[in-house]
Amino acid sequence: MWGGRFAEGPSAIMREINASIPFDKALWRQDIAASKAHVAMLGAQGIVSDEDAEAIGNGLDRVAEEYARDGVPEDWDLEDIHMTTESRLAELIGPVAGRLHTARSRNDQVATDFRLWVRNAIDEVDAGLVALQRALVARADEHAASIMPGFTHLQTAQPVTLGHHLMAYYEMIRRDRSRFADARKRLNESPLGSAALAGTGFDIDREATATALGFDRPAANSLDAVSDRDFALDYLMAASQCALHLSRLAEEFIIWASQPFGFVRLPDSLSTGSSIMPQKKNPDAAELVRGHAGRVIGCATALMITMKGLPLAYSKDMQDDKPPVFEATGLLALSIAAMTGMVADSEFRTERMRQAAELGYATATDLADWLVREADIPFREAHHITGAAVKRAEADGVALDQLPLEVLQEIDARIDEHVYRALSVDASVASRASYGGTAPDQVRMQVARAKAQLSED
Ligand code: ARG
Repeated sequence: MWGGRFAEGPSAIMREINASIPFDKALWRQDIAASKAHVAMLGAQGIVSDEDAEAIGNGLDRVAEEYARDGVPEDWDLEDIHMTTESRLAELIGPVAGRLHTARSRNDQVATDFRLWVRNAIDEVDAGLVALQRALVARADEHAASIMPGFTHLQTAQPVTLGHHLMAYYEMIRRDRSRFADARKRLNESPLGSAALAGTGFDIDREATATALGFDRPAANSLDAVSDRDFALDYLMAASQCALHLSRLAEEFIIWASQPFGFVRLPDSLSTGSSIMPQKKNPDAAELVRGHAGRVIGCATALMITMKGLPLAYSKDMQDDKPPVFEATGLLALSIAAMTGMVADSEFRTERMRQAAELGYATATDLADWLVREADIPFREAHHITGAAVKRAEADGVALDQLPLEVLQEIDARIDEHVYRALSVDASVASRASYGGTAPDQVRMQVARAKAQLSED
């Protein structure tokens, strides 16, 4: 394809290090679509004859049929998907194939293909995240009033509802989706027609190719359009953030499924057994989601480091942009699907959760607040009195609301029988009815709002 100025062919090493076809064949649909848009434009502009444009367009359809049927052949001598397609096109339709590359370079070609690929990946990620959100909302609805301990420092803090906890992840995923949507908006400008770096002397119509490929507009600067990969980085950073959220959710399922917690029974379909310990049911899918997050971040890091020192315009380093994007996309898709299944099909052991909230003295703050409100005791002193009550309950092995009134009055005489209203986990949760709080009614409002948001997707 470029042998004109060379006396010798490339060495075996050169061929191998140069070949991107083993991975960039994943771009074949985008490459064909962009070539078809380009040649149609060349025809419409009179840069190639209508007859040649049609022959090339039809030839590209035939190549696409072959790829769809037989896969993309991997010939290292042809380097990449662009040369592979053009070479097959020439075999099928003859020398007229050589007119396709008029007013174009592989630099704007690959920048265009890759944007189209990432755009499609974003749409697929978004569909996966909607499914995860729907699963979260359905389970939150079911468990709007199921009590569990809320934690800080992984120590029992205050009772919350499981629905509230699940809706926290709904919100994280909502922001992840908006990050992907932002990335999509910014990437949706067409590099096609930037040619190698400087634009072209041919009278091309960049608006036409941009529109044909679903871009919002042609990219404004040809140097920028072929050089930058910030669109891929935006995507990888959104993917990293999303993977972090999935990893935290996975981590919670891992903890909840452990025997001392026993908050959840994971679906058999997303667990594995042990070859030696027959009782084991391991949360491998969740652990791998946690592990995959590290790899997704590694992909984002890899591309940042590839790009950080490159002068404008294209350098071959940039061929290495694709593997991390492809890898992260596969890892993220699996992670989203695994967590969707886990949320949808896990069995929440709400009795255990409630018990843990009760025995963890999660309503201690409520007792202190009650002393402040009903007995007009300064909060610091109330805190101290409550501490003594917790100490006594712990010594007796009972929940706070199981301490008899005499015992509570021994600790502080100002306590009366009305205190029990504040000590139950249900009362505690119901009282936290501030906007966005954990009270079942507030959770139901969050669920209703989420359902309305999702109905627009
Ligand atoms: N396979 C190359 C890549 O993915 C295509 C661009 C090659 N351009 C060049 N000037 N060598 O980056």
